[in-house]
Amino acid sequence: MRLIHFFLLSALPPLTAAAAGTPKLGQPLHDKQCVACHAQKFGGDGSKMYTRADHRIHTLQALRQRVAACSAQTNAGWFPEDEENVAAWLNQQYYKFK
Ligand code: HEC
Repeated sequence: MRLIHFFLLSALPPLTAAAAGTPKLGQPLHDKQCVACHAQKFGGDGSKMYTRADHRIHTLQALRQRVAACSAQTNAGWFPEDEENVAAWLNQQYYKFK
């Protein structure tokens, strides 16, 4: 009975949106697929894309949508969980939405 309970719990999606992805799995994907273009636009390591005063993304929901749209646009070939991981990394690193 205990064991069944354990499996049921582990199959549930994470309770908070912010915890949905794994940041450290997202970082290498982001660095490979996304940084060059952002850096070209803003110089440096491209992180100003996310930290500039008039940046566009203001909710976790919008961040996830943006990551999904960008990955589709760039034919990254990412799975939904890749997108979640990248969104989680960007959130941990820059946006810090709850
Ligand atoms: C071909 C160039 C290019 C590539 C490749 C690219 N982006 Fe972008 N990205 C942009 C531009 C340009 C903007 C700014 C658009 C704006 O100001 O509305 C942007 C904006 C963003 C933003 C919003 C930043 C903010 O808060 O205003 C996020 C998040 C983002 N990109 C994520 C990604 C991710 C994730 C990838 C990789 C899958 C990616 N981008 C690949 C050009 C690119």
